[in-house]
Amino acid sequence: MSVSVPPFSVPPVAADRLPALLRAMPKAELHIHIEGSLEPELIFALAQRNGVALPYADVESLRRAYAFTNLQSFLDIYYAGASVLLAEQDFHDMAWAYLQRAAADNVLRAEIFFDPQTHTARGVAMETVVNGLHSACRAARAQLGVDAELILCFLRHLSEEEAFKTLEQALPLRDKFIGVGLDSSELGHPPEKFARVFARCRELGLHLVAHAGEEGPPAYIWSALDVLKVERIDHGVQALQDPALVRRLAAERIPLTVCPLSNLKLCVFPSLAEHNLVRLLDAGLAATVNSDDPAYFGGYMNDNFLQTFAATGMDAGHAYRLARNGFEGSFAGESERRRCIDRLDEAFALS
Ligand code: ADE
Ligand code: ZN
Repeated sequence: MSVSVPPFSVPPVAADRLPALLRAMPKAELHIHIEGSLEPELIFALAQRNGVALPYADVESLRRAYAFTNLQSFLDIYYAGASVLLAEQDFHDMAWAYLQRAAADNVLRAEIFFDPQTHTARGVAMETVVNGLHSACRAARAQLGVDAELILCFLRHLSEEEAFKTLEQALPLRDKFIGVGLDSSELGHPPEKFARVFARCRELGLHLVAHAGEEGPPAYIWSALDVLKVERIDHGVQALQDPALVRRLAAERIPLTVCPLSNLKLCVFPSLAEHNLVRLLDAGLAATVNSDDPAYFGGYMNDNFLQTFAATGMDAGHAYRLARNGFEGSFAGESERRRCIDRLDEAFALS
């Protein structure tokens, strides 16, 4: 996945100019669940449009419920929020709102997860989901200059048989998504549960990613790599517990799509200052910064960069490496990745 681009030497940037550079630099977002971009205001608007009753009186009381103790406590609310999505237009509107927000944060490339089983289980057709999301991605390319693609995620708390059924339903729409992922409740649902469906997706030429090492142990990262044969690890922050795994991830430059504000809100780390992002970079890992579920975790891409840099004291060199890892780890074609890295280099040369 590495691009043969000559190294760029990062000029020194004064600390007071770093926030402006973090905002302005071009970025790739490789870990965003589109259902996690549903802001409370849009949840209420869609609930009204579709006549769906919500167990919250208003936007403020819903927002007050966003106090999570772990991944599962978040997922329960996240799936309830997604219940307002029924029509193709709803999926389009949700993705369009995210893509406008991403463009404002100078995201040039977005690889967007969606959870079809959350919707098909409620009787929503696969075409409704995929066509609505895909039309927003097409519009983003034309109107916002954001190159956006979709990645279908299987819910790991469900069975592999259900994942196979979902794949069957999605295959007629194969040209509208570039890969598959694995998300939802990690503990107790190791990657190897999905060995056969990932093998089939590999035969189909789909890109492969999986959440591993968010709350789960390093063993889940090993099996995502060795059994599922994924190209990227989503989160992966638990890798540092296992030196042999760190060596493997560094040697193969496997991208880790790290989500600092998510890790904070889901209590993976007690504070952003204690996040291990700098240690991941220092260990030679291809870490990237992403928003995960920005409507629930208090920030989009720029918020993730700004808050994490303020808390950890990372500098312009770290910013460059994180942004460049994002483009190099993306599934964009060689010339598109090269174009994005050239724009990144320009932003740093001008800073
Ligand atoms: N689905 C949405 N956000 C997720 C996360 N952070 N981990 C696992 N599954 C998810
Ligand atoms: Zn995620």
